[in-house]
Amino acid sequence: MQRSEIIDVLQSNPSPNQILVSGWVRSFRSNRFIALNDGSTIKNVQCVIDFENFEESLLKKITTGAAITVVGELVKSQGQGQSVEIQVSNVEILGEADPEEVKLTILSPKKHSLETLREQAHLRIRTNTFGAVMRLRSKLAFAIHEYFQKNGFYYMHTPIITGSDAEGAGEMFRVTNLDAKKPPLHEDGSVNYKQDFFEKETNLTVSGQLEAETYAMGLGKVYTFGPTFRAENSNTSRHLAEFWMIEPEVAFNDLAANMDLAEDFIKYVIQYAIDHCQDDLEFLENRLLEEEKNKPQAERSEMSLRNKLRFVLENNFVRISYTEAIDILKNSAPNKKKKFKYLIEEWGADLQSEHERFLVEKHFKCPVILYDYPAKIKAFYMRLNEDEKTVRAMDVLFPGIGEIVGGSQREERYEVLKKKMEVMGIPEEELYWYLDLRKFGTCVHSGFGLGFERLVLFVTGMGNIRDVIPYPRTPGNAEF
Ligand code: 4AD
Ligand code: MG
Repeated sequence: MQRSEIIDVLQSNPSPNQILVSGWVRSFRSNRFIALNDGSTIKNVQCVIDFENFEESLLKKITTGAAITVVGELVKSQGQGQSVEIQVSNVEILGEADPEEVKLTILSPKKHSLETLREQAHLRIRTNTFGAVMRLRSKLAFAIHEYFQKNGFYYMHTPIITGSDAEGAGEMFRVTNLDAKKPPLHEDGSVNYKQDFFEKETNLTVSGQLEAETYAMGLGKVYTFGPTFRAENSNTSRHLAEFWMIEPEVAFNDLAANMDLAEDFIKYVIQYAIDHCQDDLEFLENRLLEEEKNKPQAERSEMSLRNKLRFVLENNFVRISYTEAIDILKNSAPNKKKKFKYLIEEWGADLQSEHERFLVEKHFKCPVILYDYPAKIKAFYMRLNEDEKTVRAMDVLFPGIGEIVGGSQREERYEVLKKKMEVMGIPEEELYWYLDLRKFGTCVHSGFGLGFERLVLFVTGMGNIRDVIPYPRTPGNAEF
C-alpha cells in the first residue's frame, strides 16, 4: 500500500478506501487519540483507535516520539479541530521511544525554552516551532532562486576556499592541512605556507562578491547563494560564524538600480512566503503573540507577524543618505538624553545596530535604505563619489533586525581602485585579477549581499539567529 502524506490526507474527503500514513507520535490521549505528524505540514492527523481491538502490549508502545505506521479509513471527524480523521484498523510500531528517556528530552510534551531546544538541536526539528521555521526557510530559499531565475539571472557557484579577503576586514577562518604542532617554518620563524596544500595562505570565504563580479562581466546578471564564514567575535542574536548569503551582481546597474533590485527582490520573497506558508506563518504569529505577553507593553510589537510582512510589501522603503541619517540621529531624543550606548557626535561615525533600529523602528517606522556612507567605514571596492568623502554604498535596514542587506556600486575606475587598495593595504598581487576587470572593458556595475538567516528571522518573527539555522556556529559552539 502506498504511503500518503499528512498534508494531502488533511485536504482529502472522507472515503471508504484504506489509506496508510507514517509519522511520529506527538501525543496519545485516553488510549484512543493519536496525534501523528510526518513533517509535511505543521498539522497533525488525528488517528482514532478502538483500544478494545488492539493488544495492550502494542498500545503501550504508542508513545510520544515513537515512529509508527497506521492504516485506516479517512472519516469525517466527530471532534473539533479537524474535519477528517483516520479510523485506525492497523498499527505498526516502526521505532519505539522509551517514555522514561523521552521525559529527559525536549520531545516530552511540555514547554521548553528556546535555549533548551538549542542544546538538543538534533531533536528540535520535531517541535512545531522548528518545523514551521525550517519549512519556511526551505520555501524562502526556493523563492530566492525563483526570483532570480525568472528575472534572467544566472546562478553561479563561487569558491568556498579562497586566498582573498573580499571584505578586507581580516575576519577569516584559515584553511590549512599543515601539522598544527610543528608547521614548516621560514628562517624568521613564520609559518611557511608554500608547503601547505595550496602552496599559499587560504581561508574560508567571507563573501563571493569579488568572484561574482568577474562573472557579471561576462554573463551580465548573476547571483550566488552559498555559505560564508566570519571569524568575528560577535556574540549577538544577529551574528553567526557560518551563515548563508545571497549576492546578486549586475553589469551596467548603478546604485539607484541596485536599490530597486534589492527592494523588489525582498518584496517578492516575502510575498512568496505569505502565499505559500500560511499554516506555518499562522502558527508563528501566535507563538510570537504568546511570547510577547511576557514583555512589558512598550516592548511589544504594534503589529502581528503577518501584518508586519504585509506592511513591508505595501510601503516603499525610505531612501536617505548617511548624512541625512546622522542629522536625524544627532538630534534624536535618545542621543540628547544619552540613551544610546554609542552617542552620535559627528559625521563619520559608524552606525551601530541601536542607531539603525532607531531609524527604522522609531523614526521612519518602515524599512530604510541608507546610502552614500563615508568611505572610511566601508570596504575598498565601493565607488567613490565626486565629493571624494563618501562611497556609493547602501544598507537596507529592517525593523527588529537592523542591517539585512549590504551592497554598493563598485569602483570601476582602474586608477582609483588601485590607489584605494594601496591606501587600505590590500596587496595588489592577490587581487590582480580583480583589477584586470577594470582594464578590460570596465563598466558601471553593482550588487549586494542579503544575509539569508536575517531574512528568515524577519519572516518567522524569531528573536535569535541561532534558531533559524539547523546547526548554528557561533563563538565557542560547533556542536553537531
Ligand atoms: O554587509 P556585508 O558584510 O556585505 C558583504 O559581504 C558584501 N560583499 C555583499 C555584496 O555586496 N555582495 O554582508 C552582507 C549581509 C549583511 O547585510 C547581513 O545581512 C549578513 O550579510 N551578514 C551576516 N549574517 C549573519 N551573521 C553574520 N556574522 C553576518 N555578517 C553579515
Ligand atoms: Mg554590512
